[in-house]
Amino acid sequence: MDKLTIRGGVPLRGEISISGAKNAALPILAATLLTDKPVLIGNLPHLHDITTTMELLGLMGSDLMLDERMMIEVNNHNLTRLHAPHELVKTMRASILVLGPLVSRYGRAQVSLPGGCSIGSRPVDLHLQGLAAMGADITVHDGYIEARAKRLHGAYINFDTVTVTGTENLMMAATLAQGVTVIENAALEPEVADLASCLNSMGANICGAGSGRIEIEGVDELGGASYDILPDRIETGTYLVAAAITGGRVKLKNTDPSLLEAVLEKLVEAGARIDCDETSISLAMESGARLRAVDIATAPFPDFPTDMQAQFTAMNCIAEGRAVITENIFNNRFMHVTELQKMGANLTLSGNQVEVRGVEQLTGSTITARDLRASACLILAGLVAQGETLVEQVYHIDRGYETIEEKLMQLGASIRRLP
Ligand code: EPZ
Repeated sequence: MDKLTIRGGVPLRGEISISGAKNAALPILAATLLTDKPVLIGNLPHLHDITTTMELLGLMGSDLMLDERMMIEVNNHNLTRLHAPHELVKTMRASILVLGPLVSRYGRAQVSLPGGCSIGSRPVDLHLQGLAAMGADITVHDGYIEARAKRLHGAYINFDTVTVTGTENLMMAATLAQGVTVIENAALEPEVADLASCLNSMGANICGAGSGRIEIEGVDELGGASYDILPDRIETGTYLVAAAITGGRVKLKNTDPSLLEAVLEKLVEAGARIDCDETSISLAMESGARLRAVDIATAPFPDFPTDMQAQFTAMNCIAEGRAVITENIFNNRFMHVTELQKMGANLTLSGNQVEVRGVEQLTGSTITARDLRASACLILAGLVAQGETLVEQVYHIDRGYETIEEKLMQLGASIRRLP
């Protein structure tokens, strides 16, 4: 089981490139199931979750070719199985994203129920209610969702809770439904808009993506396309925190500051200097200046993203003052708290809040990663802690951060992977 060893205290310096967004790549790979024409996808991040999704498509009979520019061509002209097995779905909840495309294009699908995960129960009831409203016959037995429909029809769907993949699943299903589907209280995340623009390039008829109301007029078939994934706003935010927490100065290229304005505002509030142009963000800390603690309350886009909560918890651990972090999206996204406490952090957990009182110094320790963003948080803490930190179970980190130790070494960090 891989581990990462980090020697803290090095201010990060230099430039790195940001990869394509994991949470746009996953639905866009699923969207290829909506056509039997080839779809060429560029700027795909090289991540374990992407490999898992390609493995899932391969199991169904997709032809996947990787070209020399690291672009993937997906051909679904000869699907043989409309089945997403438990052993794959249990490793990646986002496999649920094949459900909408399969039942919309082929009239049936069998997808293992994605269980909860370490950050919460993660139900998919809103996905299933939406597909049923579109005419799918949905049954659940032996841990599998069975969906059938002669042809889905348009529906008016008003989500009680904002759901990112729920919005994506139903938007994909609606592209081939008979008639018009309206999704109210749709997720505003940029990855939803990226998926919609990819679908429209395949011939879909979607308007309003990125707003709370998305309207999809079904068409008879979708064609092929060539599409580049948008930059990863969470990877971007994570490296900005790495620079801030170590008192460094970095420039992140191939990104887009408009994707993470709430995060940039909080970094400025904490005392970082931020300079942006259309495709890059630079962060610098005044030498010797100490970060100020900042309160965080997670909420759907465009407010502060839950996927950046753990990283800011780490940053607050060594900041000046007291901060309260409130997690409003998931019911168990504080796994990193006990591990940070082992390093000397002063954290008090109460319900969906953690109170952080900044300390002068964290101390390196052996700690365990429990989920993707908690792993990133522990690496950030290791970068600033005194002495050596050993982060165990780093397979989590490989799900969402492309070559993280190489990118951090490029910025001067003392980090290496142990077998
Ligand atoms: C997406 O997960 C992201 N994953 C998550 O990123 C992200 O944290 C999350 O959105 C919130 O922004 C992908 O895009 C692949 P939700 P998703 O449905 O869609 C409840 C990462 O680290 N809910 O928006 O699964 C749910 O329990 C990952 O990259 C229902 O009740 O999240 C939660 O409380 C982690 N019923 C809230 O909605 C449903 O049917 C938001 O969940 C669906 C969701």
